[in-house]
Amino acid sequence: MAKRKVKIGLLGFGTVGSGIYKIITSMHDEIAQREDVDLSVGKVLVKALDEPNTSIAEDKSIFTTNFEDVLADEEITVIAECMGGEEPARTFILAALNVGRSVVTSNKEVFAKHWTKMEEAAHQNNAGLYFEATVAGGIPVIRTLTHSMQGNNIESIMGIINGTTNYILSAMSEEGREFDDVLKEAQAKGFAEFDPTADIEGFDAMYKISILASLAFHTRVPIERVYREGITKVTKQDISYAREFGCVIKLLAIAKMKDNRIEVRVHPTMVPIEHPLASVRGSFNAVFIHGQHVDDVMLYGRGAGSLPTASAMVSDILIACTAQEHRYPMLDANGDGITFEEDWESEFYVHMKVADKPGVLARIAGVFGKHQVSLASVIQKEQDSNDTAHLVFITHKSREKGFGAALREIESLPEVSGIIGCLRVEN
Ligand code: HSE
Repeated sequence: MAKRKVKIGLLGFGTVGSGIYKIITSMHDEIAQREDVDLSVGKVLVKALDEPNTSIAEDKSIFTTNFEDVLADEEITVIAECMGGEEPARTFILAALNVGRSVVTSNKEVFAKHWTKMEEAAHQNNAGLYFEATVAGGIPVIRTLTHSMQGNNIESIMGIINGTTNYILSAMSEEGREFDDVLKEAQAKGFAEFDPTADIEGFDAMYKISILASLAFHTRVPIERVYREGITKVTKQDISYAREFGCVIKLLAIAKMKDNRIEVRVHPTMVPIEHPLASVRGSFNAVFIHGQHVDDVMLYGRGAGSLPTASAMVSDILIACTAQEHRYPMLDANGDGITFEEDWESEFYVHMKVADKPGVLARIAGVFGKHQVSLASVIQKEQDSNDTAHLVFITHKSREKGFGAALREIESLPEVSGIIGCLRVEN
């Protein structure tokens, strides 16, 4: 029998909390044997004592609606927060750390926003703070960065780290459907939230890439430094044109560091079909990391869901309760010597509707040239009945600001009736 008895407190008993309970109870003996820990759930904070998931526990006395009950149980040494949202999660996590309890969290929003304060509280109280489940659910990407790549400077991370948007974009691409139609169906099937804003507008991916970039570059990358654009404007026509250029469209979270300049962004991106990220379909996640010495590393798996996310949290719980000494990422909170790049370079795809008459293409190309945007290819699509044509451009690598200025000028030309689609392209 295991020597070390450990009781944990759970904050939240929804999808993730109940998953932790299931793993801890169903794998109790294996964990005891392999990890030398007799792990059990001491208290569970719920919103109501008759929440549906409470039916899975035989001992109903573990449930409470009062956070103080969890904190007051001195046998509980590790608290797993899986409530989501900013408050009261922030208050509960800080309260737990301030009395020396180790905290494990899957809450990317609260962690991305309050990491510095939480780490200070953990450090001061010699408590553990573990967050493997905040990014990409069951994929062990946090520990890969902190414990497996120390012999590298990380140069870039590109990830599909939001399953909902990958599910929607995959369905649009594979079934030739429009965004609204797929979103409604995903909501009906429970793949997308009733309020899908955090996912489709890129907030969820923003929190996650802020955490990954901070670890990769050893400096705090606040969410305010992350450029964010969601997928709501992507059309099935963009997807079909992307295919003609040998690409698929993915919501990528991208972080790069070069010469002490960091760029971090989340936006729908055209990715060449032969890139490993292009083949990540449905609700799966993947993270593609480039380290100076290891070269390319790609991790793939389930980025959400009850048991995959709980799998990461149980791993954190076991580390929290067996660590001889808790370690904290050595981040430079002030970013000394670091510049956050806002005028990064990428290739662009633009689809516009123009008057179909002599000189229009030359005029548009002239505006791009004036702003240092070099064109890689252009396709003129089918003519509309009223003498308009669709032009689709791919640029060479251009600066964000120059491209934006060119687009604004082009939009104001009398021969241009509208910019219909615009995406960045990443190789
Ligand atoms: N809503 C997230 C996703 C899962 O769709 O990937 C939790 O981070």
